[in-house]
Amino acid sequence: MFEKLPTLQADPILGLVAQCRADTNPNKIDLGVGVFKDQNGLTPVLKAVKEAEIRYLQEENSKAYLPAGGTERFISLVNELLFGQNHPVIKDNRVATIQATGGCGALRVAAQVIQRANPNSKIWVSDPSWPNHVPLLGSSGLEFRQYPYYDASKNEVDFDAMMAALEDASTGDFVLIHGSCHNPTGADLSQQQWQIVTEFVQNRGLIPFIDMAYLGFGESIDADAFGLRYMAENLPELVLANSFSKNFGLYRERTGTVSIVVKDPAQVSLVTNQLLNVAREIYSMPPAHGAALVETVLADPILKDLWIEELAQMRGRIIEMRHALVDGIQKAGCDANFDFIKKQNGMFSFLGVNENQVEELKTAYSIYMTKSSRISIAGINNNNLPYLCESIAKVLAK
Ligand code: LMR
Repeated sequence: MFEKLPTLQADPILGLVAQCRADTNPNKIDLGVGVFKDQNGLTPVLKAVKEAEIRYLQEENSKAYLPAGGTERFISLVNELLFGQNHPVIKDNRVATIQATGGCGALRVAAQVIQRANPNSKIWVSDPSWPNHVPLLGSSGLEFRQYPYYDASKNEVDFDAMMAALEDASTGDFVLIHGSCHNPTGADLSQQQWQIVTEFVQNRGLIPFIDMAYLGFGESIDADAFGLRYMAENLPELVLANSFSKNFGLYRERTGTVSIVVKDPAQVSLVTNQLLNVAREIYSMPPAHGAALVETVLADPILKDLWIEELAQMRGRIIEMRHALVDGIQKAGCDANFDFIKKQNGMFSFLGVNENQVEELKTAYSIYMTKSSRISIAGINNNNLPYLCESIAKVLAK
């Protein structure tokens, strides 16, 4: 029976990882997947996480099931991290949060609860967005619309076009917004733009659906959470998918949370019940390990400070590589101006080269990036930088 199934195209990001892994060129450079790498090209286990892991392994005395939505302490620490201490939605008990299997699990569970609440709601997704948003959220049966987001000629957010497109959204539709470090463009809304969007969605009866996959990779935890916290303070409802893959380096542990801010505290238990029910239908409950580490780190002021410091170091390395790349391409004799890469945030930017040039960088130089020319800046280090810059300059000179 199974022989009738078609072979599907490889995932645009994971397929690239596999291609790069198979490439035997010693000079190959992986700018594909959004995974932090240090100066030596390694993805470290953070020191704070390692210490939490040692403590956890010593203290863990059972593998019995934990509460399916996460321990109470984990949820309360995570709410405080995301929304900020003393945020009105926490004080007023208006947020329903459960643990989820990474950002993907959070997005999928949230989408299914939205579908149950209103199957006619559409999700408005930025164009471009993370390539897995539509397949992942679409499997809940929801419909999508796109709003233009990026002006490739100016290499910045096309805010006017975004707002003009959202004029067509109907009451009850959801607007998916990247909380910080927009994937793939690295171009984020300014604080003023977040405020304008907040007022707009409030007036139109739209609901923000924030995907927070890179908290702390832009400017700081507080600055990156500005939009989320502002919206949560000023709007009656909001959906949030949060991932600890990048900021805690817990990629393979599948650690995240999904939150729904509701109008009235009386709705928290109902929404929690729905979130848990959807999770039960899909994967029952999330793995315990990663969440236990996050809980241990956030509960201990010393470990938490260490984590914040390590997050700042990861962010600092990426910012440094953004500058080194732009200066290096210029030094390699390329006329094109890449200064915008210095101004953008987080793991990604578009290099802005065309598909043929992306292909040539891959086949002739073993430099891997997605077809859109999205580069994961974390893949750059001082060792591969000269080869990368020279290769880009050569391909662009043709
Ligand atoms: C990425 O965009 O590269 C990351 O979010 C990893 C993934 O799952 O696609």
